Amino acid sequence: MTVGGSDSLAALLADKGVLPAGWRPVFEWVARGEFVPDRVWPEDGDVVDRRRDPEAWRAAVYSDRALVTQWDDGRHAGEGAGRLATSSASAPSTVAEMLFDLDAHPGMRVLEIGTGTGYSAALLAARGCDVVSVEIDPDLADQARANLARAGYGDAVRVVTGDGVLGDPDAGSYDRVQVTAGVRRIPAAWIEQARPGTVIVMPWGTDFTTGDCALRLVVDEDGRGASGPFTMATAFMKLRRQRPDRHHYGAASMPGDWAETAAVSTTALGWDDVVAGPFDPVGFVLGLRVPDCLAQPVPDGHGGGTLWLHAADTGHGHSTAAAGFAHGHTPNVLQSGPRHLWDEVEAAWYWWDGQGRPTVHDFGLTATITTTADTALVEQLAWYRDRNHPLAPAVHDEHPAGAAH
Ligand SMILES: C[S@@+](CC[C@H](N)C(=O)[O-])C[C@H]1O[C@@H](n2cnc3c(N)ncnc32)[C@H](O)[C@@H]1O
Repeated sequence: MTVGGSDSLAALLADKGVLPAGWRPVFEWVARGEFVPDRVWPEDGDVVDRRRDPEAWRAAVYSDRALVTQWDDGRHAGEGAGRLATSSASAPSTVAEMLFDLDAHPGMRVLEIGTGTGYSAALLAARGCDVVSVEIDPDLADQARANLARAGYGDAVRVVTGDGVLGDPDAGSYDRVQVTAGVRRIPAAWIEQARPGTVIVMPWGTDFTTGDCALRLVVDEDGRGASGPFTMATAFMKLRRQRPDRHHYGAASMPGDWAETAAVSTTALGWDDVVAGPFDPVGFVLGLRVPDCLAQPVPDGHGGGTLWLHAADTGHGHSTAAAGFAHGHTPNVLQSGPRHLWDEVEAAWYWWDGQGRPTVHDFGLTATITTTADTALVEQLAWYRDRNHPLAPAVHDEHPAGAAH
């Protein structure tokens, strides 16, 4: 018996209500199985190998699951999971929802960043778009080219091996830009290579969490900026040059006398207030209002733990905070450096709570190209409700408990 097929995947997505109008035949034509390698790691399970268990492989391929296809930039071998998942076939419902945001129509020129297996590029080609897709990993790019040629989309998709942060190295002009790797800093090239009115869809986030939110930007008339809302919580592998090294932070990296020299306080907040699941809005919103802060939760296995906060040296030294939440004990907060990061987090949390705990849909971002002598940089300004209300960094005095500290 066989299970699944591209038509059943289309039906599954239609049942979930995530298939954009006009895309059902596209999901029926393009077989995900033509793009997924023989060995994959489903997001919620162990390795599945087609050669050993073709039915399990087919069930995984025609399910709504993300399938990891590469670990550790290809350096990992073997059956077990590697340290960092670095390429995947994204969950089909995520692919469909991002295509809904992208709103690509036949005849459009589409730039994709993060070719991976080539599946999403094939969907765009089957929709009638002219696609250039950029993949940083040469082996994955070769494999995607082979997959696309075998599936009949070799002419409609040009796969470029290179760093997608630079966009199309031939500097094309695009009607749509789709990014399928997590972004922390939007590169100017994506705006520069888009026409006014172009939709740019990307998973965007801050280093406060490992998650992202889909961001739908529309390029301004003057072509120098783009703005739009966040549309859903998600989580993608990050652009190679924008991955923070989370293993570098925590108690082990602090000087031995740190706890004695740091300022000590406590807090009325609890572990569950500030450390939530990957798709919970709180971490995302805290990241928007506490800029340039890497948060590293270290659970203690008993419903609490320590939330480490780090901000890089911008001329006055590093800032670090550790908020410890142990069951049955008063929370213990240590802070050092020019920024009192826990106070900023607390202020941002009380602001979010006071606003009625808005979700990610209430926020958006404006990206504006700012040019220096020879470099185009992008200023990213998050906003609340509309682009005329940019979010300022949280300050300690904002929250009602501020006076008590
Ligand atoms: C989630 S996967 C993409 C899924 C893909 N769209 C598909 O349909 O299979 C993310 C991909 O982005 C690639 N990537 C990461 N950083 C990149 C960069 N700077 N430029 C281009 N590709 C990059 C990774 O190698 C990985 O293959």
